[in-house]
Amino acid sequence: MSNNDLWIRDILASYGVIAMIILCIVIWIIRELPKLRRNTYKAHLLGFEMECAELASLYKEHLFKVLQCIISNDEILRSMGSIRILEIGVKTGENIRFYPEGTHLIGVDWNTKLGEYLVKSGRSWQFSHVIIERLIVGDGSSLEGIPTGCVDVVVTTRSLCSVKSVRSTLQEIHRVLAQGGKYIFVEHVLEKEDTFVRWLQIALTRTGIWPSLFGDCRLDADCVTEIENTGFEKVSWTSLALEGYVSHPLHLFLSRQHVFGIATR
Ligand SMILES: C[S@@+](CC[C@H](N)C(=O)[O-])C[C@H]1O[C@@H](n2cnc3c(N)ncnc32)[C@H](O)[C@@H]1O
Repeated sequence: MSNNDLWIRDILASYGVIAMIILCIVIWIIRELPKLRRNTYKAHLLGFEMECAELASLYKEHLFKVLQCIISNDEILRSMGSIRILEIGVKTGENIRFYPEGTHLIGVDWNTKLGEYLVKSGRSWQFSHVIIERLIVGDGSSLEGIPTGCVDVVVTTRSLCSVKSVRSTLQEIHRVLAQGGKYIFVEHVLEKEDTFVRWLQIALTRTGIWPSLFGDCRLDADCVTEIENTGFEKVSWTSLALEGYVSHPLHLFLSRQHVFGIATR
């Protein structure tokens, strides 16, 4: 054996085992990744997102007061003193407690477990003041099954960041809303320019790390400009950073800046 052959044999003997271990770990990660992503996202929705909804609840209570003044465009609902609300990204129904008695609700969510959460879960008694008219499992940007102008209010809270197309979703919201109907939104947005957090939000989103772990959520969305460009009669909004205790402070650090607003069709 030449010196060269001996050197290669020594290298293989020393590093071959390490290479095999690394290869096995990589294969294991690739196999387990979908399960890991599913579990991470589920824990995120049922943990951090619930805490975040709680942090926002006081501000939401104030925002949702507008619902008390809405008169339905639908003759039958109007005669009953009810309204029709469509919520995109309704999840576990965290906003339903803000909806007036007798509200007819159309829930849209990407999550296939939506029906179970809202109708069969132990929490469904909390929704007994509303009538769940329809639950649609699908993307917020395709509301084909919903007739034009049949909804009095559309709601999205921390959901616009995950839809396939923000522009198409907003166009659909505008289409399904009746004349004078309201679009109520609470969405997380980018931090101020020239801040480290903003840089991190952009980097984590554009590298695909954040969306792949948290259900396609984008931290770099600029939904206010998009809403203002959708053709609503009036858009009013305010900025607010959520503060408080959550179990994952990094998540809040990256998505605490919000816009709370109402757009009128
Ligand atoms: C961060 S959670 C917010 C839930 C709730 N609106 C709240 O404020 O507590 C986002 C919700 O949007 C749903 N979602 C994600 N992508 C969606 C899509 N493309 N179309 C409709 N819903 C979607 C998720 O399944 C989840 O329920």
